[in-house]
Amino acid sequence: METISAPETLTTERLFIRRPRLDDAESVFTRYDSDVDVTRFLGWARHDWVEQTLEFLQYSNQKWEQDQVGPYLIFDKMNDRLLGGTGLEYESKALASTGYVLARDSWGSGYATEALHAIVEIARGLPISSVYALCHPEHIASVRVLEKCGFNLEAKLSNHIEFPNLELSGKSDVLHYSLCTQ
Ligand SMILES: CC(C)(COP(=O)(O)OP(=O)(O)OC[C@H]1O[C@@H](n2cnc3c(N)ncnc32)[C@H](O)[C@@H]1OP(=O)(O)O)[C@@H](O)C(=O)NCCC(=O)NCCS
Repeated sequence: METISAPETLTTERLFIRRPRLDDAESVFTRYDSDVDVTRFLGWARHDWVEQTLEFLQYSNQKWEQDQVGPYLIFDKMNDRLLGGTGLEYESKALASTGYVLARDSWGSGYATEALHAIVEIARGLPISSVYALCHPEHIASVRVLEKCGFNLEAKLSNHIEFPNLELSGKSDVLHYSLCTQ
């Protein structure tokens, strides 16, 4: 794969977005990784211990070393408050996945849309042709974020993935959104 480095830091109108560090574990854990409301529709299990968040940040470092892109943290540019996380992960030479999560007190201000717009711009600078995101069919706010950022609904995949924080057994339907970046 042609290696092009994504920026490790960037700013938008209201946000400072950067590569995570291991010493972010406590704030990431406290702000959103351990929150029941925040993690409800996420594809990874809510963290019960800060060590699980640290493991994720170690994984993040591996991804950055290997791919020169990976997870990002989102901060309020004005006061350095941690708002959430996002990122880009290669799925293949031509395809990357994305996602986003905000602390509960940061919902409803357009931050996810602003952060995802920035991620799309980063993706346009990488040697991939499209970015995709998966979303629970009932997660209206996330669907809106994807639509506002220009993602198109490609398919509703039946019984496709488990949502580990929902009280369900087995796999759920999921919406597959994608955006062409070339
Ligand atoms: C989903 C999430 C990222 C949205 O973040 P946000 O910063 O509040 O999103 P934005 O403000 O940029 O946009 C949300 C849009 O959804 C709309 N919306 C929110 N809740 C809604 C609801 N119940 N019904 C209809 N629209 C809704 C908002 O009005 C807004 O659209 P608008 O700008 O057209 O008015 C945030 O709620 C979150 O972090 N949730 C927990 C983690 C998560 O589920 N991540 C996504 C996994 S797929």
